[in-house]
Amino acid sequence: MTTRTVIRGGLVITASDEIHADVLIEDGRIAALATSGTPAAEAFTADRTIDATGKYVIPGGVDAHTHMELPFGGTFASDTFETGTRAAAWGGTTTIIDFAVQSVGHSLREGIDAWHAKAEGNCAVDYGFHMIVSDVNQETLKEMDLLIEEGVTSFKQFMAYPGVFYSDDGQILRAMQRSAENGGLIMMHAENGIAIDVLVEQALARGETDPRYHGEVRKALLEAEATHRAIKLAQVAGAPLYVVHVSATEAVAELARARDEGLPVFGETCPQYLFLSTDNLAEPDFEGAKYVCSTPLRPKEHQAALWRGLRTNDLQVVSTDHCPFCFVGQKELGRGDFSKIPNGLPGVENRMDLLHQAVLDGHISRRRWIEIACASPARMFGLYPKKGTIAPGADADVVIYDPHAEQVMSAETHHMNVDYSAYEGKRVTGRVETVLSRGEPVITEREYTGHAGHGVYTPRSTCQYLN
Ligand code: URP
Ligand code: ZN
Ligand code: ZN
Ligand code: ZN
Repeated sequence: MTTRTVIRGGLVITASDEIHADVLIEDGRIAALATSGTPAAEAFTADRTIDATGKYVIPGGVDAHTHMELPFGGTFASDTFETGTRAAAWGGTTTIIDFAVQSVGHSLREGIDAWHAKAEGNCAVDYGFHMIVSDVNQETLKEMDLLIEEGVTSFKQFMAYPGVFYSDDGQILRAMQRSAENGGLIMMHAENGIAIDVLVEQALARGETDPRYHGEVRKALLEAEATHRAIKLAQVAGAPLYVVHVSATEAVAELARARDEGLPVFGETCPQYLFLSTDNLAEPDFEGAKYVCSTPLRPKEHQAALWRGLRTNDLQVVSTDHCPFCFVGQKELGRGDFSKIPNGLPGVENRMDLLHQAVLDGHISRRRWIEIACASPARMFGLYPKKGTIAPGADADVVIYDPHAEQVMSAETHHMNVDYSAYEGKRVTGRVETVLSRGEPVITEREYTGHAGHGVYTPRSTCQYLN
């Protein structure tokens, strides 16, 4: 029996269009769109009708950078796949791509199997995986090919965190050469971790232990240097490159220069770099620890370059790098030594709203909002047009968004499993009202109607951004 839903009267916004249209959903997929009020739209019949008059009808968000349950600094990110994907749904995100981790001395297989075990049966919305490659050797290079066949088509390497996730230039080059052959996409954490570790040691020796020194030692120049080096290594390998969590003006300049040369180089930034700054890291009484992440928050002046990069398409994607650690008991591990503060910020629930606020603030257009939050991440990571748009054949991952509702972001009201909000007290206009995942209501008029296990593993094709 076919189940049908029709969404009537809303403004349908995709990366390319804004149209007043009714949307027909059949068996979890978009079946048709027709201009509201026309005979074609009137002819849509359904078991369930959602009135979206005065609202936006947008594709579910695609958050291409999350870390549920990530082991870091002797603890684990505080959101499980269950709590984190539920929070994602509350925030209008219907697909996450999380990072499975290869530990040094172990195989990619072990890492990906462990992440499947964490996620399977627990997710409220659909999910895929990237693979963090911490140990490049002949075996792992072969395993990259196999993972691509399983829909894990992107691999993160770290130029930071020596002794943990770090790869040297030779390991990076080898993985890039492999991805040039197998169609994989290397995602780079671009910070010169060897140099940073020297500066950390020197800062601590001077008694500079507060959270704000995390921002001072992880210098913008060391992000730019690593970004430049990653671009050159990718060029030598003949491989595309995606730089994650770009935060510095100087790093955006490296990406822009490479793109001007015609290189297949892409960049992601995150809401924390667009809305927060070193002022937060400097908050007294160790409160700055709430804002410790890497790359670090930068002085406010860097935000203009990031917004500009998003407008000029030198940056293509905004993901959250959602990696929450509670203040009590987790961030506190770094009292007296900023280098022991677990790195990461919560945000999977906040991204769509913050970027809508950016539309109202005049930073980006409505269609660019959908492009950087839904369509481009889906294209970049091989999920388009199943995810990231509203078009016949696409999964019916749809958000009814109220562009006029006011909200105040707060840990009191959010659904992420973390004891603070990075945006506590921030007023934004716009709010998710209803969320469908493959046609099923996960949020219904601001009530959770989903269930753990609805979300399924979603294999990905290789990067579709190049063609
Ligand atoms: O501080 C961060 N970003 N934590 C998560 C791990 C990473 O580097 O993305
Ligand atoms: Zn990173
Ligand atoms: Zn990350
Ligand atoms: Zn279900």
